[in-house]
Amino acid sequence: MAKKPTGKNTSGRGQRDLKVKVKTARGRKLSSTRWLQRQLNDPYVARARKEGYRGRAAFKIMELDDKFRFLVPGARVVDLGCAPGGWIQVAVPRINALGEKSGKAQGRIIGIDLQEVEPIAGAEIHQLDFLDEDADDKVKEWLGGKADVVMSDMAAASSGHKQTDHLRIMALCEAAAYFAFDVLEEGGTFVAKVLAGGAEGDLQKLLKQKFAKVANVKPPASRADSSEKFVVATGFRG
Ligand SMILES: C[S@@+](CC[C@H](N)C(=O)[O-])C[C@H]1O[C@@H](n2cnc3c(N)ncnc32)[C@H](O)[C@@H]1O
Repeated sequence: MAKKPTGKNTSGRGQRDLKVKVKTARGRKLSSTRWLQRQLNDPYVARARKEGYRGRAAFKIMELDDKFRFLVPGARVVDLGCAPGGWIQVAVPRINALGEKSGKAQGRIIGIDLQEVEPIAGAEIHQLDFLDEDADDKVKEWLGGKADVVMSDMAAASSGHKQTDHLRIMALCEAAAYFAFDVLEEGGTFVAKVLAGGAEGDLQKLLKQKFAKVANVKPPASRADSSEKFVVATGFRG
């Protein structure tokens, strides 16, 4: 049976603790072997499979929301970089997007991604490059009003060069933040993935002007050996 994650971040543990060891096979690169080994030994991967989530990323938003409580019934949410849909799967029941919780307000979620996403009941999903010139206008049109939460897990494919990856993710994060400033309701929340690496300071400064509180969080589901962290800005000043 799959072992439940303890909540402690054990994903950065050493080789000797691994339960499944993957032998290098002819034609398989060392990096692929390492990836496979990590997947097979990751309790969050096992839990995602068992609980029907499309990826382990689902647990990151779950842990962030358990702490900050922004996915509430009735919330209007925009999920930028939503493929394959783990965050949406978590958000749909929490915001009551299907209207199943009687007596509670019904929420709404719009997801966008470069990639095509299998439909998810209760969500509206569009294939779109958020860096396209008219992308934010399109999302605003689909939204047709204000949002309570803008969340972004957008990440460009890794170039293998740490600083380049960092700058790319910061550009996506900044685009998400400026979009959030335009659409968020007063009191709204902005959540975004960033990579530690130097350029995140300017964004932090900007967010601190626009929101009552800005927190930097590394949820337990985020791998210890990854430089990713999440910025959670609450209480949008409008
Ligand atoms: C880590 S994955 C998101 C996982 C998602 N939160 C989930 O729970 O399933 C990052 C996503 O960002 C998307 N992405 C990267 N650049 C983008 C862009 N310019 N516009 C839209 N999506 C983008 C990628 O296609 C990828 O699917």
